[in-house]
Amino acid sequence: MKVGVIGCGYVGLTTGVCLAELGHTVVCVDNDEEKIKKLFSGKLPIFEPNLDKLIKKNKKRIKFSIDIKDAVVSNEVIFICVGTPSNPDGSPDLSYVENVAKEIAKYLDSYKVVVEKSTVPVETAEWIKKTIQRYKKNNVEFDVVSNPEFLREGSAVKDFLYPDRIVIGVESEKAKKIMLKLYQKIKSPKIIVDTKSAELIKHASNSFLATKISFINAVANICELSGADVEKVALGMGLDKRIGKDFLKAGVGYGGSCFPKDVDAFIWISEKLGYDFSLLKEVKKINEKQKELFAKKIEDTLWILKEKMIGILGLSFKPNTDDIREAPSIYIIKTLKQKGAKIKAYDPKAIQKMKQIFPDIEYCDNPYEVAKNSDCLVILTEWPEFKKLDLKKVKKLLNQPIIIDGRNIFDPKKMTKLGFIYKCVGRRSDV
Ligand code: UDX
Repeated sequence: MKVGVIGCGYVGLTTGVCLAELGHTVVCVDNDEEKIKKLFSGKLPIFEPNLDKLIKKNKKRIKFSIDIKDAVVSNEVIFICVGTPSNPDGSPDLSYVENVAKEIAKYLDSYKVVVEKSTVPVETAEWIKKTIQRYKKNNVEFDVVSNPEFLREGSAVKDFLYPDRIVIGVESEKAKKIMLKLYQKIKSPKIIVDTKSAELIKHASNSFLATKISFINAVANICELSGADVEKVALGMGLDKRIGKDFLKAGVGYGGSCFPKDVDAFIWISEKLGYDFSLLKEVKKINEKQKELFAKKIEDTLWILKEKMIGILGLSFKPNTDDIREAPSIYIIKTLKQKGAKIKAYDPKAIQKMKQIFPDIEYCDNPYEVAKNSDCLVILTEWPEFKKLDLKKVKKLLNQPIIIDGRNIFDPKKMTKLGFIYKCVGRRSDV
């Protein structure tokens, strides 16, 4: 099938490349000239495992362009994958979506299925339809479909090709058939619903996952106060199939481009519809508090932060990505700097991006350089390489053998035995 993808961010690029892998011919469009230039020269604007390999493998079926017309003309399915950033009041800014809808209307040359892939509030598909209807210049027919994306950064390709489910919100039999043909090769269950339900499935899913994380972080705080171990509590809870073991990892709070924004948007949408989703307001509050509590833990351990050298391991909001959007590391570094601490940091992928936010901190080439002469080591992202650190070497390099671990990657007993002052989240370290 011939497909156009508008927007080459994480979602758009993964969608385009994976659809080419499924055998479709794809035109990926973005108005960021630099991004398209990079893609032309075979470079990826983002780090995402396996995406580069798939681009190379399917290069005959993928074209890149800065002209939206190329994504529309003579293509049967058009994906809208542009950003929906948050406005200051938490509402999503849908101006990019509206602009794209107007442009699609301009170039409509034959029947098309316009697919909304960006995370958008309920009723957006209806608005896209109205907008195209208003601005189109002929009688060509089209359908608007909601097909939310559930991919995670770091495992985006796998999540796209082997999803738990594919949600398709349609209002016409014709569009349904086309969407089922598009995803024919993917064997996962396909849920066919109306567009509004599809839009809400996305919001409800992300907000539920964020709720799980805030719930376990709240439990972690109770564990710290009572002397219990959150890892054991999560294990015991997670084995109950109704609860499930995933997304019960306590830490420094969730970040990224989705959860914080989506929770805000769902609170806003609910309010707009006349419902006060106070549970989600609390989910957000707990997440913010979690970062504050962690920064306080560092201060409580070191007493005076002024002029202390703090070594940070991990800057990205989670492992296997260079994305630092809403990363807890940003809040924590800012707080420590405000209190006069000096910062050294290392991350396998995210240093370049972090330099744009904190050009004035010291960036190192490896974790041992960070540990050298630091007054403590702080772990903020659970990159696999940190779990394999030579801890005896780390201990020798540090001024004081202090590790404050926001991701619970080490066994507290083992760390105490090795002679570390080890603080983590929701677990006792003096056992
Ligand atoms: C998320 C959703 O998982 C995905 O379905 C949606 O399409 C986009 O948003 P992503 O933001 O890439 O994906 O990352 P995810 O792996 O879900 O992690 C989000 C945040 O939650 C990270 O900061 C992570 O560290 C944190 N997290 C996750 C926890 O703190 N504990 C957990 O148990 C799981």
